[in-house]
Formats: sequence, C-alpha cells, structure tokens
Amino acid sequence: MLHSGPAFSASALGDGIVELKFDLAGESVNKLNQVAIRDFDAATRAIAGDGSVRGVIVTSGKPVFIVGADITEFGGMFAAGEAKIARGVLEVNRVLCRFEDLPVPTVVAINGVCLGGGLELALAGDYRVMSTAASVGFPEVKLGIFPGFGGSVRMPRVIGIDNAVEWICAGQDKRADAALKDGAVDAVVAPELLRDAALTMLRQCIDGKLDWRARRAAKLAPLKLNKIEQTMAFNSSMGVVGAQAGPNYPAPMLALKNMQEAASLGRDAALEVEAKYFAKAAVTPQAGALVGVFLADQAVKKAAGAWEKKSSKEIRQAAVLGAGIMGGGIAYQSALKGTPIVMKDIKEEQLALGMNEAGKLLSKAVEKGKSTPARMTEVLGRIRPTLNYGDFGGVDIVIEAVVENPKVKKAVFAELEPLLREDTIVASNTSTISISHLAEGLKRPQNFVGMHFFNPVHMMPLVEVIRGRQSSDEAVATTVKLASRMGKTPIVVNDCPGFFVNRVLFPYFAGFHMLLRDGADFQAVDKAMEKFGWPMGPAYLMDVVGMDTGVHAAAVMAEGFPDRMKHDFKGATEVLVENQRYGQKNGKGYYVYAPDRKGKPKKAVDPTTYELIKDVVAPRKEFTPEEIVARCMVPLVNEVARCLEEEIVASPQEADMALLYGIGFPPFRGGACRYVDQTGVSTFVATADRLAPLGKLYEAPRLLRDMAAANRKFFG
Ligand SMILES: NC(=O)c1ccc[n+]([C@@H]2O[C@H](COP(=O)([O-])OP(=O)(O)OC[C@H]3O[C@@H](n4cnc5c(N)ncnc54)[C@H](O)[C@@H]3O)[C@@H](O)[C@H]2O)c1
Repeated sequence: MLHSGPAFSASALGDGIVELKFDLAGESVNKLNQVAIRDFDAATRAIAGDGSVRGVIVTSGKPVFIVGADITEFGGMFAAGEAKIARGVLEVNRVLCRFEDLPVPTVVAINGVCLGGGLELALAGDYRVMSTAASVGFPEVKLGIFPGFGGSVRMPRVIGIDNAVEWICAGQDKRADAALKDGAVDAVVAPELLRDAALTMLRQCIDGKLDWRARRAAKLAPLKLNKIEQTMAFNSSMGVVGAQAGPNYPAPMLALKNMQEAASLGRDAALEVEAKYFAKAAVTPQAGALVGVFLADQAVKKAAGAWEKKSSKEIRQAAVLGAGIMGGGIAYQSALKGTPIVMKDIKEEQLALGMNEAGKLLSKAVEKGKSTPARMTEVLGRIRPTLNYGDFGGVDIVIEAVVENPKVKKAVFAELEPLLREDTIVASNTSTISISHLAEGLKRPQNFVGMHFFNPVHMMPLVEVIRGRQSSDEAVATTVKLASRMGKTPIVVNDCPGFFVNRVLFPYFAGFHMLLRDGADFQAVDKAMEKFGWPMGPAYLMDVVGMDTGVHAAAVMAEGFPDRMKHDFKGATEVLVENQRYGQKNGKGYYVYAPDRKGKPKKAVDPTTYELIKDVVAPRKEFTPEEIVARCMVPLVNEVARCLEEEIVASPQEADMALLYGIGFPPFRGGACRYVDQTGVSTFVATADRLAPLGKLYEAPRLLRDMAAANRKFFG
C-alpha cells in the first residue's frame, strides 16, 4: 500500500501498476471536499515518490465516481472575497496539476455519476474510460459559477472550443454515448468490463502503443486555433450563450470570456485566468442565491424524508374525487409514477375529459421518444374512471379535487367518510380554504389533511401538505410519502386560509391591483416584474390562473385576513370578470389569446381592456420599474415574514423553495427570504415604511423589524 488516507488509497496491482481508489470515509458518495483534495495530494505525492510505479488507474469505491465539489463548503469560501477565492482555486489546481504531471501514464475509470469537480479531476488524467451506466457533465452554471478546478482550461483542449462552450455554458449532464462522440472520454464499456478496459488501456500506454505524452502535451499547450478561428468561434458563441443565459445569469458569459482570454495561453497561465473569472462569478449575488437554492432544496428533501419515515402505511391504491383540471392531472401523475388511482366524478363527460388529457400527455411523451405505446397503455390502465363509490372500501388515500366551495366539499366528505376504511386518509386539494375548517363535521378529523397541488400538476414540482389542527402525524407522513412517490417535492405547512403559497401570492396581486388603481399601466407592471425575473408578470399570471378563480380566492383570503386583505376599492380584475373575461381559459383577460401554430395560446394586447377598466383606475401615471417592484414585492415578503412568525412554514429554506417550486419565484434571487437578505433587511424595512400609507399589507412585521434592529439575516 503506497498510501491510505481518509479518501484515497493507492495500492500496487503488480507490474508497476497502481490503483488510486477514491472512497470517502463515512460518506455514501465521493465528493471533492477539503479533506479529499488534501488526501488526493498526499496520494499523488506518494506515487510520485515511488520510482517503481509505471502507470496509475483511478477508480471509485462507491457506486458514483465523484458527484462534484462539496457545495456545503461554498458559502464560507465565497464569502472570503475575490482575491482569496482565486488563491483557493489555484491551490486546488496545483494539486490537480501535480497529478497531471506524474511521470507515468494515468487512466481514469468512470463508473458512475461524475460531475463538476469530479469531471475536472478526470480531465487531469491522460485517458478516460466510461461505463455505460455513468454520466458526466459540468452543472456549475446552475449554481451561478463555472468549472474552476481547471475544467474550463482542459475541456476546450480535449474536445474543442465549440463543444466545450456547450458543455460548460449549458450545464447539461451527458450520457456515455454523447461523451464519447464529443471526445470527452476515450472509450465506453459495460459496467462489468470497466476495470479491465481501463487496465488494458493503461498497459497500452506503458507498452508505448498509446502515445500518452502527446495526449498530455495537448492539454498543456494553448488551444490549436489561429487568431481568426478564435475570433470566429468566440464571437458566434457570445450571441448564443448570451441569449440562452439572459441578463440575470452572468456565469455562462463569464465562463466564455475566460475561455477566450485563456485560449492562447499554456496551462498554467490559463489557470490563472480561470481563477480570476471564477472568483468574479463566485461573488455575484446570483451565485450566492443559486448555491442557497441548492442547499435549501436538499434541506427540504431531507425534511420530507424524515416525515416519510413516520408513515407505516402502504399506499397500494389511491382515489381522486373530481376529474377536472386538477383531478385529471392528479390521476395522470399518480398513474405515471406507479400508484393505481380511481378517478370519480359526477359527470360522465368530465371523466372522458380527464382520461383524454392523460392520453394526450402520454401520446406526446411517445412522440418525443420518452415513452412507448406499451407503457402508455400500462399507465392509462392504472387510472380507473368511475361515477360511483363502489371501490372506495379498498382505497388507502383519497384526494378531493371538486369545486372550490366549502359547502360542496363538506357534503362530499359527509357521503364519502362512511364508505372508507377506518384508516383511509382524506386529503383536500383546496387552494385556499382552511383545512381545520373543512375538517369540522368529520368523524375522523385525524385522518384529514390538505394536499395542495399546483396547476398544471404534471409540470409543477411543489405539493404543500397542510397539517390541520387535528391532523395526525400518520396522515401527514403518508401524504408526504404519496407526494414524493408522485415525483413531487412536498413541503409540510401549518393551516390557515391560503396556507403558505397562496397566502403570500394574494398580497402580491393586491399590490398589483393597487398599482392599477393608482394609474399604472398593467403592461408596464408586467414588464417590470418580468425584468425582475418572474416568468410572467401579475396581469399575465392572473390570466393564466383564471380571473374568476383569482377573484374567488382573493375573497376567501380577505375573509381570512380582513385587516389587510380586504380592499375598499373595485379591482380591475373584478371588472374584467363581470365582463366575462376569465383569462386564458376563454381567450380573454387582461390580454387576448389565440392558438399559435403549435396550438399554444399566444397573447396579444387588446385595447378594449383599457376601455373596460377605465372607471376603476386613475388617469395613467408613470411608475418607475423600481417602484413597481417595491409595490408588488413588499406585500409578498411581509406576508412571508408573518408566515414564519406564525410558524405556518417552518424555515426560511422551506419558504423560499415553496415559492420557487410553487409560483416560479426567480431562482437567481433564491426566494423571498434570500431576496430580503440581498436587499438588506434595513433597506427593505425602510421601503416598507415609506409605502406603509398604502395599507397594512405594506407594514413590515415584527420579525423583519427585529432582524433589522439586530442586524440579522435569514441566512448566515
Ligand atoms: N385550477 C387550479 O389552478 C387549481 C390549483 C390548485 C388547487 N385547485 C383546487 O382544486 C379543486 C378543483 O379545481 P379544478 O380547477 O380542478 O376545478 P374543475 O371545475 O376543473 O373540476 C372540478 C370537478 O369536480 C367535479 N365534481 C363536482 N362535484 C363533485 C362531486 N360531488 N363528486 C365528484 N366530482 C365532483 C366536477 O364535475 C368537475 O369535474 C378546487 O378546490 C380548486 O381550488 C385548483
């Protein structure tokens, strides 16, 4: 044994061949944390110091190769400032270069997931053999950074600049065939043949059949492009990458500029350039937010996992009441992910509609080559449409998705409950009505929870699981389990009207309505909020949600929180509903919609909207984009803080992820809590104070005032 450490072991296999195995102690996966990097250096030095070594294969002792750098270490690293960050990555690069410069050939055997820093380590070897089961890639741009351990230097020299730009700036994982085609790996073999293939390749290097020195020299030299070719390659990439990333995601462009500046340099000088640009990316607020999102996502999944462990119940059979927009979507998603589901409605045509929708989604998947006709039949077979309750005695969980009316819902529960087993869970997909209120009159309120899906169900990742006053742990846990099994991200929240997401979304809409009342142009509001990063502005969003649904939900919220959500003026949306403009669903809302060539609704401006709302809005007045953003965002953020105060949502992480996954809060801002942190809590409170004359929605709650006074942030 040449070396044995907390992450790496180096052992002789005979004939001068050494196996350098990565098996990080105490972890289920290999990641390049500080410990691993130090140990890699120690192992490399041990190999370099042994004159009998003739070649090295690098392997993994885990099912993955290396998942990447340790993202939990980023926060501390990135807070150190540009100069220190650059020095830090250069130190890691010295370690990787020492490995790359070993006087013997090196072959890396990629057995499983090999991402980010993992792929950078693999690129420091001379040859790479990859298992068909593995995947490789540079996902760094998703965290607001780009490969900084030499990846942006070596990759263009290994696969050419055009390919490298695509790998680094788009951040997609690649399967083995794609990696081989681009030249990122040298061979692809079945998993069981990987080790032998890597050893064979290494022996060919040792025997001089493969020219590993020439391979290595190409990685140490400048890119093989003359000035004109370089200009052409980078100029055409600038346009594409800039357009794809958009103005809110600077990392891909920084990666590109770095590759351009480093193109004519040898390895060591190119690494200096990489470190400089990497540090620039790492200190952007976007990197801070996106790394935060990654960690919050992990925290949310961990919380869901802890809930699931509390469920002892098997979910063999589910049921959904209502085959409408939501019920149909829920049935499809459940069937798709393997849980059989009975779908009950009171109208035959609704059942047909629900099945048709599921059929359409599955056909699309078949067309795109993502599914097969046989699988489509299998999935559809898991949905059993029915008009009666005949089979409900065998159901483990029922999801109620009938119309949003407490009387109708309660009547449905009254007829449903006697037909169910004692332990069957009932979950309501209500979007606003308090779960504890709906539970009144139930014989087994402990079995009752909320399970709030978002529209369209198959696309939206979030499910809010709502714990009513009397909901049991078992009911919450089993509902969380079903949501996860359906491929969704469940977040458990406590009960109140609107729960978490709608409770904070409606104040945002209220801010929008007040702006219109005061003379803002709804198109200018949409433009400002879309520039802020929302996928659609509030007028467009209202059209997509459905104006009648929006007005109805706003009324429920106003009843729940009259002190701030009741309004004493008529909103523009209410006027539009009175004029039968319901949004996209009937082709007319704030905008008008007609199907485009693909059949998707395309929005257009309609002058009659202005005519219709003129009596409820003040004469046109210009608002700056900053003022528009403040007037929409302050009510939302204040309500998030109130939900944290009242423990409706358990943590800032969960609050932020619920907003990202539920309503498309701009990821590069990281969520509402991260947004306040980045704005500065005191600055935010000062803006709220300035706007407070507009109404109670603008009054900063205690939590934010206390945080401002104590100079505290939500994160770190
Ligand atoms: N549409 C959304 O964006 C959205 C999002 C989240 C939650 N929700 C909630 O989901 C629920 C359903 O909303 P939707 O948009 O799917 O409504 P929808 O009008 O499209 O569908 C409701 C369905 O329920 C059926 N129904 C009525 N009474 C019934 C009964 N007694 N038994 C069985 N079926 C019955 C109707 O025939 C209809 O098919 C509501 O509580 C709504 O607030 C809706």
